[in-house]
Amino acid sequence: MKTIIDPGHPIKGNLPCKNKLDLPGDKSLSHRAALFAALADGKSAIRNFQVSGVTKPLLDALKQLAIDWQLDGTTLTIAGHGLQGLRPASEPINCGNSATTLRLLTGALSAAGIPAVLDGSAGLRHRPMDRIVLPLRHMGVSITAAENGGAPLELLSRDSNQPLHNIQYALPVASAQVKSCLLLAALAANGTSTLFEPGPSRDHTENMLANMGVDVTSRKLEDKATPIYATRLSPPTTSLLPLDFTVPGDISAAAFLIVAALITPGSQLTLNNVGLNATRTGLLDTLQAMGADVQVEILTHDAGEPAGKVTVRYSVLEAVEVCGPLVVRMIDEFPVFAVAAAFAAGTTVVRDAQELRLKESDRIAAICQELSRIGVNIQETPDGFIVVGGVLPRGGEVESHGDHRLAMALAVAGLACQNPVVVHGAEMTAESFPDFIAVLQALGCIIQTEQ
Ligand code: S3P
Repeated sequence: MKTIIDPGHPIKGNLPCKNKLDLPGDKSLSHRAALFAALADGKSAIRNFQVSGVTKPLLDALKQLAIDWQLDGTTLTIAGHGLQGLRPASEPINCGNSATTLRLLTGALSAAGIPAVLDGSAGLRHRPMDRIVLPLRHMGVSITAAENGGAPLELLSRDSNQPLHNIQYALPVASAQVKSCLLLAALAANGTSTLFEPGPSRDHTENMLANMGVDVTSRKLEDKATPIYATRLSPPTTSLLPLDFTVPGDISAAAFLIVAALITPGSQLTLNNVGLNATRTGLLDTLQAMGADVQVEILTHDAGEPAGKVTVRYSVLEAVEVCGPLVVRMIDEFPVFAVAAAFAAGTTVVRDAQELRLKESDRIAAICQELSRIGVNIQETPDGFIVVGGVLPRGGEVESHGDHRLAMALAVAGLACQNPVVVHGAEMTAESFPDFIAVLQALGCIIQTEQ
């Protein structure tokens, strides 16, 4: 599918808008809520669940594992039967493009001692899984990966009366997926586990498990030259409490609309009920440092997750440097951040972001290649990129590289170029923001799609 974006139409309005179009529920929270509810004892209700390409594989997997759920619009109800309530799947579990599904489900199945084969798309098979396989083996899980260290993963069964070993483990790279996988496995360990990370990865698992009655705490160890983030979990002695949770709007989906409004003259946009967890708001801090008129108001705190309103107006942006822990707090936002940088006067430098090469595409190579094609002065570095911005890109034809965030970032760039931008492979937006094009159109953008 290709999408043709006509530049120069301001983005105006509020979300949700009159016809009920809105941001999707947060992807990370939706994955966790569905999986953790399946491990709880009793019926959970999850409202504003993200119904999308990346959450479908998890819901399908739960069916395969004998978990009963119903989806009514975006309200998901799940009947959990406790940590030991999952049943072995008769076929391999297909996680599609979702690394979150693969990594978190592997942790839960390890805790339950359930045998399984976990696989996914060709793209997912290239993502590194040794980062969960090695520490899980230290915990006593019998697990193998493919030769390249990726999926398919094979888990052997374990007598569920035999606990796993607790671990003290330093993750080489900050990763919420790896941390969450190991925390789930640690639910079935014989003592307290502690995980150390070099950066502040998103803490939704900790918030949600704590809300379900688990003793899990996080702290930043400041006494080191570079801070270390420690998470400690003690295995519960009673079953997990069911969830009654409304998922806030996805800040990583909001990011596209926020940058769209910032770079398109005459725009003004208000987004309501956006998740504002501080481990996810690095882009907002960075844009404010660039001079962006972005106002943020926290209005609610449901189950440890702050949410509220974000108001954005078109702004003249200036270049900035992004490195260190800030990279972790905006890890999914670099494709669209590169677009903001293209419209900012001066030289923007991103460092310490080599992890971007291991996402749905090599996001450093892909964003540099595609933005160059529409006339942006952007150069790849081993751990980031350098953008010399402030000159209106000319527009042209670009390709999504099978990556939802690249497809959406390139469409956003098209809103403010000199000429239209044509995005090939734009169907990828359905992975995490199925209404992306419809929302932009409702806010005043002129966009056509062709098969
Ligand atoms: C996610 C964690 C991040 C992020 C991904 C979702 C999660 O990945 O990029 O989109 O839900 O835990 P890493 O843990 O690999 O950094």
